[in-house]
Amino acid sequence: MIIDGKAAAERLRRQIAEEVARLRATHDLQPGLAVVLVGEDPASQVYVRNKGRQTLEAGMLSHGHKLDASVSEEELLTLIDTLNGDPSIHGILVQLPLPDHIDEQRVLQTIDPAKDVDGFHPLNVGGLASGDPHALVPCTPTGCLLLLLEQFDGNLSGQNALVIGRSNIVGKPMAQLLLRESCTVTIAHSRTRDLPAVCRKADIVVAAVGRPGMVRGDWIKPGAVVIDVGINRVQREGEDKPKLVGDVAFAEAADVAGAITPVPGGVGPMTIACLLRNTVIAACRHAEVEGQL
Ligand code: GUN
Repeated sequence: MIIDGKAAAERLRRQIAEEVARLRATHDLQPGLAVVLVGEDPASQVYVRNKGRQTLEAGMLSHGHKLDASVSEEELLTLIDTLNGDPSIHGILVQLPLPDHIDEQRVLQTIDPAKDVDGFHPLNVGGLASGDPHALVPCTPTGCLLLLLEQFDGNLSGQNALVIGRSNIVGKPMAQLLLRESCTVTIAHSRTRDLPAVCRKADIVVAAVGRPGMVRGDWIKPGAVVIDVGINRVQREGEDKPKLVGDVAFAEAADVAGAITPVPGGVGPMTIACLLRNTVIAACRHAEVEGQL
């Protein structure tokens, strides 16, 4: 079975739009999201444009800030301070990666944790790890979890879950979320010994390594649910445009898996929907309104 992430994201966005309409009508509360883009990385530009469009489509306020790649760290921090103090903005996202001369951790730590809809501030990272229900959780792993919960009828308890990749954006928070759902969690990475054997034991595989087609069909336990977070652009000989492929060899794995996400159209669309969701959650907390998401 192929998991339709695009359809799941559309359902979630519709639910978010309804909640935004309710908040505006009954509490005069319009959630607002600020997205900061530094430089002109083409992939980041596409993501930021999509985020802005979908924010508006959900009935929320969207503030875009484009800064030159040469902007100083101090100027960027000053902008974040301004956004922190702006009551019409409930969520702040600084698109990564940042240029080399800017200290990414310092930037992320400057964002007000209550507006940190990426969930990258140390207070939110620690909150997720220590079980604080108020922690804002990173969007991509949240999207993966929502897709998994649909596959397992809301109960992941006791499943063997393998997360391949240990990044701060996906791997580590994904492992924390699966642990919170009472999975038995393994985190694999480039130094893991005999990854195919480890993978064959997993009921759930989340691949987030950035290596096209690395996870092969014969690594997958029959019936396992496979979530492919990879977005790799590969240029194949004889094709003029680069193709988007995941970290999983899709055709092979789809023959064995119980369910699998495609690339594109799997996890990707869920990520932005979860960003909108986090913004609504942050707005409700700010206004001390009971949210319904
Ligand atoms: N770049 C790639 N993924 C992400 C993400 O989830 N958030 C931000 N801010 N930048 C990214």
